[in-house]
Amino acid sequence: MKKNNKLLSIALSCVLSVGLLAGCGTGSTNQGSGGAEKVTLVMGTSADYPPYEFIDTAVSDEIIGFDVDIANYIAEKLGFELKIQDMDFGGLIPALTNNRVDFVLAGMTPTPERLENVDFSDIYYVAEQMIVTKSDSGITTLADLQGKKVGVQLGSIQVGLANDISEEVGGVEIVERNKITDLIQELKANRIDVAIIEDKVAKGHLNANADLSAFVIEEEGEAGSAIAFPKGSELRDQFNEVLREMIENGEMDKLVLKWFYSEE
Ligand code: ARG
Repeated sequence: MKKNNKLLSIALSCVLSVGLLAGCGTGSTNQGSGGAEKVTLVMGTSADYPPYEFIDTAVSDEIIGFDVDIANYIAEKLGFELKIQDMDFGGLIPALTNNRVDFVLAGMTPTPERLENVDFSDIYYVAEQMIVTKSDSGITTLADLQGKKVGVQLGSIQVGLANDISEEVGGVEIVERNKITDLIQELKANRIDVAIIEDKVAKGHLNANADLSAFVIEEEGEAGSAIAFPKGSELRDQFNEVLREMIENGEMDKLVLKWFYSEE
């Protein structure tokens, strides 16, 4: 009997949340009229980037990760409903400039080029860049990359980094792919020699693939992640305020531990 009640309430809450979602999907914005329905913000992301954003297919088809937790926290704090839209990383800036999404949370680094088209929040996390390669490739320094095939994600700052490295070492062949998972596959199939990937993302692939190893690109420094908005969006200041709050109240540290350090 008790069990049945529990089942019933689970079923009920599903019905309720489905109803809520359906309401959100219409993009209705009657905020304040009794407070029943919230404004829905659409977040654009590229869910090929564990632990920032990814789908753990063994568990569900839901997008989860560090960025998703940040988005949920901010949306909750500001009283918005959140809808996540997945796309290739290279499509995120166009989605912002066409106002198809309200913001982008995708481990995205502010760059002067991007700042011409979108606005960025404060930086919420800083990562280092790694060269990932087959353990038996013999590649252990940047100098070893001369004449080699270097894989990077299309539209990412790693493309610029690959160009810099190319100049530094006297020429590399740059290979661009839509998804990080494609890069890993190309690497394992020896179709590229290395891939440039951010440290925390690289770690996951290193743990899962014993035939891969990596080293940090020291001299190229770090890349911060920030939230991107359409130019002039009022959301930026509101989001920054909550980001600051999360840093002060320890929520950000909690999420960093949860997503980046939980298995170490
Ligand atoms: N930080 C890099 C950039 O801004 C890579 C981000 C890739 N993110 C992703 N979700 N695939 O270009």
